[in-house]
Amino acid sequence: MNKIPGMNEADLRGKICLVRMDHNVVKKGKIKDSMRIDATIPTLLHIYKKGGLPILMTHVGRPYDKSTGEISISDNDSVIPIVSYLEEKLQLKGIVPELKPVGREGITELSNLTNSIEKLKTGEADFIYLPNTRWFKGEETKDDSSEIFAKMLASYADVYINDAFGSWQAHASTYSIVRYLPSYAGLLMQKEVDNILKVFEPKRPLVAIVAGSKFDTKIGPLSSLVRIADHLILGGVIYNAYLCYKYGISIKGVTVEDIAQAEKFVLDCTEHSKKIVELPYIVENNSIEARTVDSWKIHDVRELEAGTELGYVLDVAEANFELAEIKDMFNTAGSFFVNAVMGYTSLFPEGSKAMYSLIDSCGNAMKLFGGGDTIQDFGEYLPGTFSRAKNNSSYYFFTGGGAILDAIQQGSATGMKPIQALIEKNNKGDQRG
Ligand code: 3PG
Ligand code: MG
Repeated sequence: MNKIPGMNEADLRGKICLVRMDHNVVKKGKIKDSMRIDATIPTLLHIYKKGGLPILMTHVGRPYDKSTGEISISDNDSVIPIVSYLEEKLQLKGIVPELKPVGREGITELSNLTNSIEKLKTGEADFIYLPNTRWFKGEETKDDSSEIFAKMLASYADVYINDAFGSWQAHASTYSIVRYLPSYAGLLMQKEVDNILKVFEPKRPLVAIVAGSKFDTKIGPLSSLVRIADHLILGGVIYNAYLCYKYGISIKGVTVEDIAQAEKFVLDCTEHSKKIVELPYIVENNSIEARTVDSWKIHDVRELEAGTELGYVLDVAEANFELAEIKDMFNTAGSFFVNAVMGYTSLFPEGSKAMYSLIDSCGNAMKLFGGGDTIQDFGEYLPGTFSRAKNNSSYYFFTGGGAILDAIQQGSATGMKPIQALIEKNNKGDQRG
């Protein structure tokens, strides 16, 4: 049985529910886009409905330095703006327990949490929000401190709920904790996994579009995706690296390593290589800083001779999305999976805009969008289309990008390690903690 235990099955009455969210939306102390918080509100309401007492937690930013093991604590990465947002939106009272870090080791003890829990029990507070999980010693480590932190967290709660779809990495608060408490998936987590299934069992043909700034982080998921999809379009530096390899050209900013990875990718998927769809018109700009009327020009990559040295290639031209073969392919697609900003959008948003518009015109196809930047750019450059899309059942917007790519790489909608931990615990029939 490979069923994810859902929070509907849990008895929450009077129980302290430790809930891991992915509310990683604070940039320099301000909420950039509340989508990820809003998406978890049903889970919070469900806890109240079932009479549970919530302790919420999330990571914010990357305060842990992997090379030194030091944690830098700054107001920029605080959860306070998230607490204020929830208080305002839901008219509830939240508290953040004061927990002091030990120098650069991070927070090592939770005793102050007892006072806050008393307030939760007496109704003085409606929810507790723990400080940034990455401020705690052990959150991201692979040694004993991870288990120590997970065990300590668990000792204050009765039930663990993971609703942090975007937080796919196996950390103490997403993974190790499962060992110590009855553990369930939140409502958002379940919904996201149901939608990843639409990538694995798509309405065909599936057009997958993936862009990125480094090949090495994408090669794993791309190698899996090219096998699942019917057509694969690449964008960003990944596409540039592919073009360098395929046409023997060089493009400024594309490293030898990226080209080597592109070669590895192509050789690894030779039997699927026909699925890679080239967008021939690329936009070359002479700088990455600025765009002027004559700083850029469009090339047809098929006409470039091997050895050609291009400046920065910062977009795919709109003209690609007017080509009959591309339009046909889009118009006959059963579904799209899009984790892609096509160009360097602060200077050249046109490629992404033209592509999102063409996808939008494909009324019946399922449109699965993932990745913070992709969704943000869609909203910024096509605000009208985006707000209609949010209420249109042919669209689904995932709250995580890396998370879906990880699932794709693992080869299963439930492949992410934190989900596997929930399933394994459930399979053992041990939900007593
Ligand atoms: C994200 O925003 O990508 C997720 O919250 C995960 O954050 P991370 O990439 O720092 O682990
Ligand atoms: Mg990320």
